Amino acid sequence: MKGTRLFLVCLSFLVLLSTTSARSHEKVLRLEPCKRLVLFFHDILYEGHNAANATAAIVGAPEWANRTIPAGKSHFGDMVVFYDPITLDNNLHSPRVGYAQGFYIYDRKDVFTAWLGFTFVLNSTDYKGSINFAGADPLMEKTRDISVIGGTGDFFMTRGVATVSTDAFEGDVYFRLRLDIKLYECY
Ligand SMILES: *[C@@H]1O[C@H](CO)[C@@H](O)[C@H](O)[C@H]1NC(C)=O
Ligand SMILES: *[C@@H]1O[C@H](CO)[C@@H](O)[C@H](O)[C@H]1NC(C)=O
Ligand SMILES: *[C@@H]1O[C@H](CO)[C@@H](O)[C@H](O)[C@H]1NC(C)=O
Repeated sequence: MKGTRLFLVCLSFLVLLSTTSARSHEKVLRLEPCKRLVLFFHDILYEGHNAANATAAIVGAPEWANRTIPAGKSHFGDMVVFYDPITLDNNLHSPRVGYAQGFYIYDRKDVFTAWLGFTFVLNSTDYKGSINFAGADPLMEKTRDISVIGGTGDFFMTRGVATVSTDAFEGDVYFRLRLDIKLYECY
């Protein structure tokens, strides 16, 4: 009898637990971002002649490639380090509001796909602080979602999702990314 009662108590506790977690999941799906920013950053890759202008460089390449020309097979194995200016609009020459600092790795042989790990360090009249991003970037798709995994300053402990799209590109040398940053945790 005692055993049965204990069992029932445990069971109702489990039911309660699963309904609250289902409810909080629904809540997250309905959630509006607490902060939203759209920013652009500009990546100019070193290609042998543009050392003064380049904002990014291949720092590691597979044995069969080199660090001047992106590797064949969808650039597989190349690792690029960047320090890219961030602007409010899509013009490379607009005032910069900060820098995107980090790296990307091309990690698939059969299709262009990178893995991004970088920080937006913002220093403008509107925002001071940093936002950290990480995630897979299947760059042939029109939009890609990466994770916002944290932040500092105006973005203290933030979390969210950023939708990446390639706004423009010129060969392998220049590309411009648009980042639609949706933050769901703001302090
Ligand atoms: C730097 O590179 C970008 C992208 O290729 C180009 O638009 C720009 O004119 C270059 N600037 C200089 C000073 O070479
Ligand atoms: C890098 O590789 C490319 C393509 O294979 C080749 O044309 C170029 O000469 C190489 N550059 C250097 C510095 O080895
Ligand atoms: C931010 O900008 C101000 C004003 O231009 C400058 O004094 C300060 O050193 C900058 N901070 C960083 C972290 O770049």
